[in-house]
Amino acid sequence: MSTLSQKIEQRTARVVVIGIGYVGLPLVVEFARAGFRVTGYDKDPTKVQLFNQGESYIEDIPTAVLGPLVKEGRADATTDTTVLAQADAVIVCVPTPLNKTKEPDISYIVSATEEIAKHQHKDMLIVLESTTYPGTTREVLAPPLTRGFELGKEVFICFSPERVDPGNKHYGTRNTPKVLGGSTEACITAGKALYSKIIDHVVPVSSTDTAEMVKLLENTFRAVNIGLVNEMAQFSRSLGIDPFEVIRAAATKPFGFMPFYPGPGLGGHCIPIDPLYLSWKLRALKVQAKFIDLADEVNSSMPEYVVGRVVDALNDQRKPLKGSRILVAGIAYKKNITDVRESPAFDIIAGLSRRGAEVEYTDPYAPEVHEHGLHLKGVDPSGSFAPYDAVVIVTDHDSFDYPRMAREAQLIVDTRDVMRRHTEERRHIVGL
Ligand SMILES: NC(=O)c1ccc[n+]([C@@H]2O[C@H](COP(=O)([O-])OP(=O)(O)OC[C@H]3O[C@@H](n4cnc5c(N)ncnc54)[C@H](O)[C@@H]3O)[C@@H](O)[C@H]2O)c1
Repeated sequence: MSTLSQKIEQRTARVVVIGIGYVGLPLVVEFARAGFRVTGYDKDPTKVQLFNQGESYIEDIPTAVLGPLVKEGRADATTDTTVLAQADAVIVCVPTPLNKTKEPDISYIVSATEEIAKHQHKDMLIVLESTTYPGTTREVLAPPLTRGFELGKEVFICFSPERVDPGNKHYGTRNTPKVLGGSTEACITAGKALYSKIIDHVVPVSSTDTAEMVKLLENTFRAVNIGLVNEMAQFSRSLGIDPFEVIRAAATKPFGFMPFYPGPGLGGHCIPIDPLYLSWKLRALKVQAKFIDLADEVNSSMPEYVVGRVVDALNDQRKPLKGSRILVAGIAYKKNITDVRESPAFDIIAGLSRRGAEVEYTDPYAPEVHEHGLHLKGVDPSGSFAPYDAVVIVTDHDSFDYPRMAREAQLIVDTRDVMRRHTEERRHIVGL
């Protein structure tokens, strides 16, 4: 331990981040800024090449920040696993998706663990940051990494959930408190020593299982509350009430209420997926996570609900959906970012197309997408909205010209309540 802690204190510890995507790249940058020598190890040669050219591929990390760190030799990237042999601290930030049957796919964690084990040596700190079910670090990561190395003396294992919020202008890596659980007290001490060099406030918890559960609670809290307002949006319409107006007014209560807003469905790599890691784990214990299952059911129904709103709105204009030209505005899963993973826009496009609509999309952040086996090319966001029978706002990017959209479009289905800020004329605008 003393060698490792000394190296961390002197910032001579070599840090290797496995997986330099949305989570890993900001960490590489922070450790390099803090004076550590950092290498990003990734299987994706395109990311590695861009990184080594000093070019960022993640909006939150400007090339102007990454470039100098690469140029000064403080950070580099590689596809070569042997770099792990030189690592004092390894941070694992690989994907944790669901498989086709909506069950956890931890194969990326397993393969990263195998790669570390191949190059493991004494005095190594290994931290898992990928979101996963409680028990993963203890059951999947620790056994292969403690063969021949004493836990808490020769190898230090932690779990620390990542809380990065892409596009958030106020909270980044440094000022977002970081929860940390260790396999032993000594593991927490080592992990805390490392993270406190790049993060203002580290929050230790008693075990890796607890730290894993913290992340799942945070994201389940969001999924359940979004499910609640999505259901509320659906029955408010049946009551002839605008759900957004209700929530905005309720949010004026200064205590005991936290506003969540309805939308076209969940998206991204976290909120639609993470709670299902927990419900899967609970199923094995014969426990049903009722809130998670219900929220998943309601949230998953939203794209189809949006399609229904389009059908009804066209119907009011005496038009059938079949043969209508529809423009989906925004394909990224949230505003002002390029990430389209799990975006509800895909199900909305599929639902409209299946019913015979001619669907196009426009998104300044994602002019072309390759997802779900589809290759889609968006239309120019500066083009006219007039030729479309309806424009469906799925993602409320700030850069869309909403006043022009309000003037030109024949009908707007606004799933984000964004038009309220841009036009008084609501005759041709339909909410969620
Ligand atoms: N994106 C977010 O906003 C966010 C927020 C909090 C937590 N998380 C969690 O963090 C984890 C990573 O998510 P992400 O969004 O950064 O994913 P990402 O897809 O952007 O990046 C993961 C990277 O890991 C690489 N990779 C996969 N297996 C590898 C291996 N065996 N060796 C080396 N590289 C490998 C991939 O090529 C990819 O570049 C996930 O568990 C996710 O749930 C993500």
